Amino acid sequence: MPIRVPNGTREGAPMSLYPAASNHARLTVSDFSKSQQHPWPVLTAYDSWTAKIFDDAGIPMLLVGDSAAMVMLGQSNTLAITPEEMIPMIRAVVRATSRAFVVADLPFGSYQENPDQALATSLQIVKQTGAHAVKLEGGIRMHEQIRYIVECGIPVVGHVGLTPQSVNALGGFKVQGRGDAAEQVIRDALAVQEAGAFALVLEVVPAELGKRITELLTIPVIGIGAGNHTDAQVLVWQDLFGASNETPAKFVKPYLDLYELMKSGVESWANDVQQRIYPDEFHSYSDKK
Ligand code: KIV
Repeated sequence: MPIRVPNGTREGAPMSLYPAASNHARLTVSDFSKSQQHPWPVLTAYDSWTAKIFDDAGIPMLLVGDSAAMVMLGQSNTLAITPEEMIPMIRAVVRATSRAFVVADLPFGSYQENPDQALATSLQIVKQTGAHAVKLEGGIRMHEQIRYIVECGIPVVGHVGLTPQSVNALGGFKVQGRGDAAEQVIRDALAVQEAGAFALVLEVVPAELGKRITELLTIPVIGIGAGNHTDAQVLVWQDLFGASNETPAKFVKPYLDLYELMKSGVESWANDVQQRIYPDEFHSYSDKK
């Protein structure tokens, strides 16, 4: 994808991606408002290496999603991952970045019981990782949890539409909010805003509904499979770069074929090892200095 390089920025650091990012200071919650001129990009990150690349590329917000369960730990859904498993990943992403605002997902079962449980998990994650905000799934039913976490000083991102932690109740990873079901998604989105969240992830809903909710809400809507009218777009980075050989969801447009690139790199190296082509003299140490 060609990257526009504005005057005065070094190649590969497209600061125009997000104007508030251009002063090199760490972005804060107040930088993310509805009034941005252009939709802004958000990516997931789970380790220091990718987090640094995305930060250097000017991505203003990184999400350490519980999608880590699937794309990092090889599980078939996000239900089993725990705060203890996510904490080292969140810590690595915060440590590797200097400008991105880092949002940490609250894992399934770590906040649903009641507001006290939700706050305890949020405090644990923020204190042990330095994450700047937490994200949790659910609308009306999570109203009290969101309100309590926000009141205690931790910014919250809501998440409605397809909420992967409810995959068993939803009967699979399916489009939400079609037809009459749209009204429930709207009520959930409004409840998240009313509870005090500063942004909302809206996942896998019809584009028309994505537009309607974006127009209704005063907080920014971060879409994923929610059409092209939301205030921001988020993707799991492995989807963006074709890092898996599974068929991507309809909303995913891979910008690289990382799976094939890495596979062919590995095959070349393995072949060179077998043929004793690698390591050659240049890549070996000699007895002489
Ligand atoms: O866990 C995750 O990565 C997410 C995004 C897909 C929004 O919640």
